[in-house]
Amino acid sequence: MIRILSVVGARPNFMKVAPIHRAFEAASDLFHHSIVHTGQHYDAAMSDAFFQDLDMPHPEWFLGVGSGSHAQQTARVMTGFEDVCLEAKPDYVIVVGDVNSTIACALVSVKMGIRTAHVESGLRSFDRAMPEEINRLATDAIVDDLFVTEASGRDNLLREGVDPSRIHFVGNTMIDSQVYALPKAERSRIHEQLFLEQGSYALVTLHRPSNVDVEDRLRMLMGTLEIIAERCLVVFPVHPRTRKHLETWGIVPSPRVRLIDPVGYVDFLALMKGARLTLTDSGGIQEETTALGVPCVTARTTTERPSTVLEGTNVLVQPERGPILAAVEDVLDGRIKQGRVPELWDGHAAERIVDVLRRHYS
Ligand code: UD1
Ligand code: UDP
Repeated sequence: MIRILSVVGARPNFMKVAPIHRAFEAASDLFHHSIVHTGQHYDAAMSDAFFQDLDMPHPEWFLGVGSGSHAQQTARVMTGFEDVCLEAKPDYVIVVGDVNSTIACALVSVKMGIRTAHVESGLRSFDRAMPEEINRLATDAIVDDLFVTEASGRDNLLREGVDPSRIHFVGNTMIDSQVYALPKAERSRIHEQLFLEQGSYALVTLHRPSNVDVEDRLRMLMGTLEIIAERCLVVFPVHPRTRKHLETWGIVPSPRVRLIDPVGYVDFLALMKGARLTLTDSGGIQEETTALGVPCVTARTTTERPSTVLEGTNVLVQPERGPILAAVEDVLDGRIKQGRVPELWDGHAAERIVDVLRRHYS
């Protein structure tokens, strides 16, 4: 039996690992899969909510690292994960995405001589001021197997000199979760609960440090939402990082900008599907809206997910009032970018990962 350990830590990790767990369960003749939760995210709305929505078992290990500086958080994950590896003796470790838990666990397992894989490998924003870019570069430089979601990921890795035999273009496990949860989202009551009419609102998420950690920028972005709200109700599930800064700086929007707590995965999927548009700086939401065909305005200087712009419904705009309003008005005026779903975003990426491992271990 091959013992596989997958790591989750922060909100965008759960939807990437849930389908991987299901695919290994279906291959239980050869594999035993378990989950480690680092506790990087710990609020119920940022963590617990996802297990039920995604039908994911509770993690076998919980490190409870919590928040802190990058160094503190990364160090706590590393020492906690080393103990788990000593006890569990995995044959193979899987890390996903680009959060601090990703690089921390990759460093530990690679140095312990455990074969290690990165799912969502090769994405590059080419902006080293983003903590996630450092996590992506460092993780990809050390792991053994690199599972890629889109063509740019493969191209970037090849350019960086990665041996092609270690790169596996399998598609997007985040979209596996979307395909899995869409029937549940059809049954979501979130629109009734929030008194929202389908197709009538802009769904907003903002949490990038470059957008929300600087008072002037956050004030500018909130002012921009007020202008959008003159034409279209704004619904904004607020990330804890952003909530903390809104409170610290006393920024209180008008009622047309509806701030709500983060919602669970299924409800958020229903909100995306029913939105007139999304305005975001999230990584994953760029992909999910492309898969749904929902217009997405991304308020960032770069994206590490170019297929969402080149093929999908995503428009990348400078995070300034003018460009954001221009892109939002395009959508509200009916000038809507049409898109297609990128190659292999078909709900079967996790099965392809298991196929690769089956070939490796058979
Ligand atoms: C992290 C990831 C980011 C990802 C995001 C997803 C890193 C470097 N950043 O950013 O790539 O896009 O998660 O949501 O790994 N907090 C709470 N409750 C929680 C979690 C956080 O209140 O459950 C607050 C704390 O004040 C904390 C702050 O949010 O200091 C930031 O949390 P942290 O995990 O450091 O980074 P995120 O901004 O969440
Ligand atoms: N999401 C959610 N509830 C919310 C906001 C987002 O379930 O209130 C989901 C979203 O559908 C996607 C993931 O969280 O699957 C994206 O996480 P986030 O934007 O925090 O991180 P990023 O992708 O930017 O790293």
